[in-house]
Amino acid sequence: MISQEIESHSPLVQNSLGAVLPHLQRAEGVWLYDTTGKDYLDGCSGAVVANIGHSHPRVLARIQEQAARVTYAHRGAFVTQQQIDLAQRLTQMTGFTGAWFVNSGSEAVEATLQLAMQYHRERGEPRSHFVSHRTSYHGNTLGALSHSDHARRSVIQGIEVSHDWLPSPYDPNQTADQLLHAARQVIESSREPIAGILFEPVSGASLSARPLVDGYLAGLRELCDHHGILLIADEVMTGLGRTGKNLACDHWSVKPDLVALGKGLGAGYTPIAAALLNETILDVITLGSGRILGGHTYGGNPLSVAVADEVLQVTLEQDLVAASANKGTLLHQHLKRLQSAFPTLVEEVHGKGLLQGVTLHAAADGEGIGSTVEQLRLACLEEGLIIYPATGGFNDSFLVAPPLTSTLEEIEELIRRLERAMSTLRDNLLAQE
Ligand SMILES: Cc1ncc(COP(=O)(O)O)c(C=O)c1O
Repeated sequence: MISQEIESHSPLVQNSLGAVLPHLQRAEGVWLYDTTGKDYLDGCSGAVVANIGHSHPRVLARIQEQAARVTYAHRGAFVTQQQIDLAQRLTQMTGFTGAWFVNSGSEAVEATLQLAMQYHRERGEPRSHFVSHRTSYHGNTLGALSHSDHARRSVIQGIEVSHDWLPSPYDPNQTADQLLHAARQVIESSREPIAGILFEPVSGASLSARPLVDGYLAGLRELCDHHGILLIADEVMTGLGRTGKNLACDHWSVKPDLVALGKGLGAGYTPIAAALLNETILDVITLGSGRILGGHTYGGNPLSVAVADEVLQVTLEQDLVAASANKGTLLHQHLKRLQSAFPTLVEEVHGKGLLQGVTLHAAADGEGIGSTVEQLRLACLEEGLIIYPATGGFNDSFLVAPPLTSTLEEIEELIRRLERAMSTLRDNLLAQE
C-alpha cells in the first residue's frame, strides 16, 4: 500500500531517502566543485577525512604507480613491501609495536575489541566485558555501535552487546576526581571481569570536538593498570595529526594499550584503517596462538596501504601535525570572534588543533535537537561551505575541521562564508520570533 503512494524510487539508497544533494564533479585542495560549477570550501574534510586535501598530486601519482604494479593479493598468501613500510611508519610515528590493517573505522574499533578479548584469553584469564562512555560514537557495526551513546544506536535496539557505561568525560563542569570516582565504582561493582575501557580522547560525532576533562585519562590509565583492564583509544577521528599531535592521547601524555585509527589514514583516497597494538599484547598473542583470529578480505590490500603510506609521508614531510596545532589556534580564535558576534546563536566553541566544534543554543521548544544546526548547514551550503553536524542526538553542534594543508587565506575564507551563513540564520530566526 505504502509503495503505491510513493511516485518513484531512485535505485540509489541514501542516508536521507529522497534528499536532493549537489552533484559533485571534482575536487582539488580544500575545494569541491559541483556540476553547475559552484565551488564549496570543504570546512570539515568530508567526514574529518581529507587531511591532506583533495587530489593531492603525490597521492594521485602513487595510486597510478601502485595500480600498475599490483592492487590486490590476500595477506594470508603474500606480503608486500608497502605493507611493511606503512606498518613501520605508523608504529614509529605513534610509539606502538604492531599495526593490523582493516578497511574502516568501525572495523578498527571491532578489531581492538577482538584483540583485547584474544589477549585476555591467551594469557589464561578470559574476559569479554567492555566499558565505554556516555556521549560517544565508535562506529556502525554491532560491537562498535553497542558501545556508542549516539542517536544511531536506536537501530540495534534489543540486540546490543551487553556492557557498562561511564559518565560522559567531556563535561567541563565535572572534575577528573568525580569522573574517576564513578569509573572506580563501575569497575569494582562489575559482575564480570572487564576486558577493556573504550574512549574517544576528543569527542567526535556525538558532541563535536570536546576534549576529555584534564586529569581524567591519567587516572583512567592507573585504574586500568590496577585492574588488568586494557585502555582502548578510539582515535579514528582524532589520530594522525588532526588535533595537533600524532595521537590525541599525547595531549595528556598517556599511552593506551590499543588504538583504533581510520579516517585520516586513507585521507579520502582509499578505505583503510588500523588497530595499533602495544608490545605486551603483541607478545602474548605471538607466543600464544601466533595468529590474529580475525580479518577482512580487503584488509591491508596493496593499493590501500601504498596510498596510506604516501599520505603519511606527505604528512610528515610537510610537518602537518605541527601545522594542525598552529592553524587550529588561529581557527579557534576566529570561531571565538564569531561567538562574540553572534551571542544569540553560538553557545560555545571547543576543540584541539584543526578539530574544532561549535555548539549552538538549543532550538526553541518543539523543534527537534539538531534542527538549528541543520538550518545552519543549509545556509552554509548556500554560501559554498561544508560543515559537519555532530549532534549525536544531544545538542546542536557541528565540526569545523578543514584539511591540515589549508592555507591561512583558505581558513579566513572559511570564516567569511561561515559568518555570512550565521548572519542569514540569525536574521531568519529573528523573523520567526
Ligand atoms: C571516533 C570514531 N570512531 C569510529 C568511527 C567509525 O568509522 P567508520 O565510519 O570509518 O566506520 C567514527 C566515524 O565517524 C568515529 O568518529
